[in-house]
Amino acid sequence: MPQDTVTITDNRTGQNYTLPVENGTIRAMDLRKIKTGPNDFGLMTYDPAFMNTASCRSAITFIDGDKGILRYRGYPIEVLAEHCTFLEVAYLLLFGELPTEPQLKDWISEITHHTMIHESTKKFMEGFRYNAHPMAMFVSTVAALSSVYPESRNVHDPAIRLHQIKRLIGKVPSIAAMSYRHSVGFPYVYPDNDLTYAENFMNMLWKMVEPKYAANPVIARALDILFILHADHEQNCSANAMRAVGSSQADPYLSTAAAAAALSGPLHGGANEEVLRMLDEIGSKDNVPAYIKGIKEGKGKLMGFGHRIYKNYDPRAKIIKWTADRVFEITGRNAKLEIALELERIALQDDYFVQRKLYPNVDFYSGIIYQAMGFRPEMFTVLFAIPRTVGWLAQWQEMITDPEQKIARPRQVWIGHETREFVPMEKRTPAPVAAR
Ligand code: CMC
Repeated sequence: MPQDTVTITDNRTGQNYTLPVENGTIRAMDLRKIKTGPNDFGLMTYDPAFMNTASCRSAITFIDGDKGILRYRGYPIEVLAEHCTFLEVAYLLLFGELPTEPQLKDWISEITHHTMIHESTKKFMEGFRYNAHPMAMFVSTVAALSSVYPESRNVHDPAIRLHQIKRLIGKVPSIAAMSYRHSVGFPYVYPDNDLTYAENFMNMLWKMVEPKYAANPVIARALDILFILHADHEQNCSANAMRAVGSSQADPYLSTAAAAAALSGPLHGGANEEVLRMLDEIGSKDNVPAYIKGIKEGKGKLMGFGHRIYKNYDPRAKIIKWTADRVFEITGRNAKLEIALELERIALQDDYFVQRKLYPNVDFYSGIIYQAMGFRPEMFTVLFAIPRTVGWLAQWQEMITDPEQKIARPRQVWIGHETREFVPMEKRTPAPVAAR
């Protein structure tokens, strides 16, 4: 019997099946041959929320959640955050290798020349209500780019694909900044191609009447590091949305908009906004024990804590804490930090959190930095979406070029009625409220 196999006995029939094991997985399609008879469809797996299902083979981002390890293309996140710029890391994620000096120069120049958005898209943004959530504006405007670049539908042409990748990476900070300026009623600021990616974003956010925006270098570097930390995170909810929508061969603007929509939820990228609301609700360090008690009694979740994959300290949270100290030297300490540190201290020694291996995740401290930089909580998830666009595009490109991938289409376990007799209108009874 070959070693890399698993043998399954079907107790319904007494039959044995030997299935190959590759990379610690069996092929779900191999289970189909396990049948009770010729009319049996064959065995499937039932895995709501993909708790134990690999949907792809990937070489982009590696996470060892038990050890708290995160690597992009083999490089530890700590090393990249220390030595690289965000656009350098974007290149690595997309093309698999760190760029040489001339490659990086060209890459920066190409991205920089795609930062402008079409004037009609600007008008589109102007149509949003004054109090629209920036994430809703971001998602809709990224989708609207599909109407500006119809050639993007040709997802199997590598040159067209690369062009859209550059456009999206160049344009998402512009859209994000416009959604911010719209929400505060300020005129939009055009990109400044003399500035770095992070500096230019700050320029589009915060330039007022000065002829040239001068970014604070410490804040610009902190933002760049935050972008590196958020750039990709393997098969998370939004990457999965990107792959699933992209698998239908929708264009990359629509797929990215779908991924950004997935990111907006409070259990995913929307958690950073919720952390700030939670800290406001707690109000002071003294109220932390009572708040934790409430969580343990089932009154909500401790936002910014827990992760599907990390059962150890999220390595990104450690770097964010270090970055926060640099930012606070410029902005002054955010008063909420005291509450957050106390929450972390108590939670990390509490049995409830210890037993469930719940640690601070990337969203726990990022909002505190963003707030110290002057952002309102509504903007936090948009700040996450800018760098994550790179990860979504890397995942999309990998999916499109993978000969094994097809349209993503899960199966279901049918628990509904068998064929029913049609009921004429006069004989129908109202469905119970819960069933509607
Ligand atoms: N506070 C209190 N209890 C929690 C928390 C939390 N933040 N997270 C998980 N638990 C409990 C959960 O109730 C469950 O307890 P029990 O076994 O008694 O039912 C146990 O821990 C396992 O949790 P789960 O819900 O089965 O875990 P999951 O993998 O389905 O969910 C998660 C992961 C991130 C959605 C969840 O931990 C959560 O909702 N955290 C708060 C929201 C958050 O911070 N999200 C950001 C995630 S990281 C960045 C990103 O993805 O964008």
